[in-house]
Amino acid sequence: MRAIKALIGLVSSLALTGAQIVTAAAPPPPGAENGMVVSAHRLATDAGVAVLKQGGNAVDAAIAVAYVLAVTFPEAGNIGGGGFMTIRLANGRSTFIDFRETAPAAATAMMYQDKAGNVVPLLSTRGHLSVGVPGTVAGLELARTKYGTRPRAPLMATAIALASKGFVLDQGDADFLAEGATDFAQDPASAAVFLNRGKPWRAGQRWVQADLGRTLQAVSARGNDGFYKGPVAASLAAASQAGGGIITAADLAGYKAVERKPIECDYRSFHIISAPPPSSGGVVLCETLNVLEGYPLAALGFHSAQGVHFTTEALRRSYRDRNLNLGDPDFVKFDTSRFTSKAYAAELRAGISADKATPSASLTGPGAAHEGKSTTHFSVVDKAGNAVSLTYTLNDWFGARVTAGGTGVLLNDEMDDFSAKPGFPNMYGLVEGTNNAIAPGKRPLSSMAPTIVTHDGALSMVIGTPGGSHIPTGVLQVMVNVIDHGMTLTEAVNAPRIHAQWLPDVIYYEKDALSADTMAVLMAKGHRLEQMDYWNQVAAILVGGPSLAMKPNAATGNRWRYFGAIDPRLPVGSVGGY
Ligand code: GLY
Repeated sequence: MRAIKALIGLVSSLALTGAQIVTAAAPPPPGAENGMVVSAHRLATDAGVAVLKQGGNAVDAAIAVAYVLAVTFPEAGNIGGGGFMTIRLANGRSTFIDFRETAPAAATAMMYQDKAGNVVPLLSTRGHLSVGVPGTVAGLELARTKYGTRPRAPLMATAIALASKGFVLDQGDADFLAEGATDFAQDPASAAVFLNRGKPWRAGQRWVQADLGRTLQAVSARGNDGFYKGPVAASLAAASQAGGGIITAADLAGYKAVERKPIECDYRSFHIISAPPPSSGGVVLCETLNVLEGYPLAALGFHSAQGVHFTTEALRRSYRDRNLNLGDPDFVKFDTSRFTSKAYAAELRAGISADKATPSASLTGPGAAHEGKSTTHFSVVDKAGNAVSLTYTLNDWFGARVTAGGTGVLLNDEMDDFSAKPGFPNMYGLVEGTNNAIAPGKRPLSSMAPTIVTHDGALSMVIGTPGGSHIPTGVLQVMVNVIDHGMTLTEAVNAPRIHAQWLPDVIYYEKDALSADTMAVLMAKGHRLEQMDYWNQVAAILVGGPSLAMKPNAATGNRWRYFGAIDPRLPVGSVGGY
């Protein structure tokens, strides 16, 4: 619990800087005719738009964005972590690239417990023992070779230049980097990069990452072999060994990104394409939407007590199913089609009372594990209508907060997304499941939900967000705001959110999300309520108009097709297009 509180404090201090959430109205979403990129960093967005302008497709642009974020947004942008990429091609085919980190070969189920069987604080979140084998380079390369149109080198050139020659930090960059300063000071390899002679970098200073530039150059020249073999891999393995970690050169050489079938479902007249296991994101999203489809959310109104009640009850059940059942599909067996079926949603609805909250304790199963929320998402569409929704992460902000010396690669703490102690009471006094137990080569369960939505067979929305277990709820609410409540994309993204996840048995709400009388009705139904800080940074693109009902004014020559929104909950990020 303390760890979660500390994380919430960190993000709230970051997010509140300059953040302004607008409920009733918001500026219209910026539009573009030919292509669009929405990401957490202005330089990454610009690099993606430049690739689109030069005729690259959405996959090419996504690769450029991802490598630039690894330089300019080290909070979560990475080559030392992993993630997921949902792709929908203009010909209607969709696919999914899984480049989630894997547990090293020497990992064991009880590696984060002491002799008495207690989980050792920070062992799975700080330092080299918390690091999973990184997947980002392999994932981007798999996507590029199968679905891109450009050679690797030009797509990486901007990232290499930004690392080698540096870029001038703005206030948002500097404030964000400073958040890791205390931990960076403990790790000489991190201090050498992320601190300026021991002090936090300041706005206006040029930040050069020469080692990272050389590592990116090796990847540009040799592809996967530039990272997973040779001098970079040797440095990564040596840093792990020196720092008490267990990643070996063989773990790196053996890493493979995997192409999977996305999770798909229908919500009202829309088709959803999202992340399959080892992410729970698509399953939670589809299961919740299927249940909500049976309720008149539009008529109930945005954040009506009844609408929030039904949403909470749906989420209570889908998160229960997530925690009970899901894990790495290459290691454990479960049937996602049951959770995403309309018949199962009807069964769940039959157990939901309109008047009374279901106590979560009565829905038996294991409890929720801690999950880092400090991920980043970007959305890309190109002129032809190809779309990429990409979420990748180091888990916590700046991951394990250790850097492999000589490489500039900041490393993830994704091992913390496994259950550190399956079969025993967790921090909430409940028993965690074994499907997400640690095993060599296994991928930890995620909540990331890079999502693409179509309507009548045409691209409609590209959406995703960071936020750990708050990812599915962030994506869900923006979609419901657009589809059911008729909001423009910026209104939908800016609108205050709630969150519920089965355990703890609480409805969390952002400031001003619920009126006092709405809360009174919810409490009368038996819900417990608690205010939360911001968890998401939704990056979304809507196709066709600022809202589903609004169209650009063709009479004035407005030919915009794509409309973008970046969540104001973090003071960084941008929408770009041409
Ligand atoms: N580490 C955050 C997630 O995978 O959901």
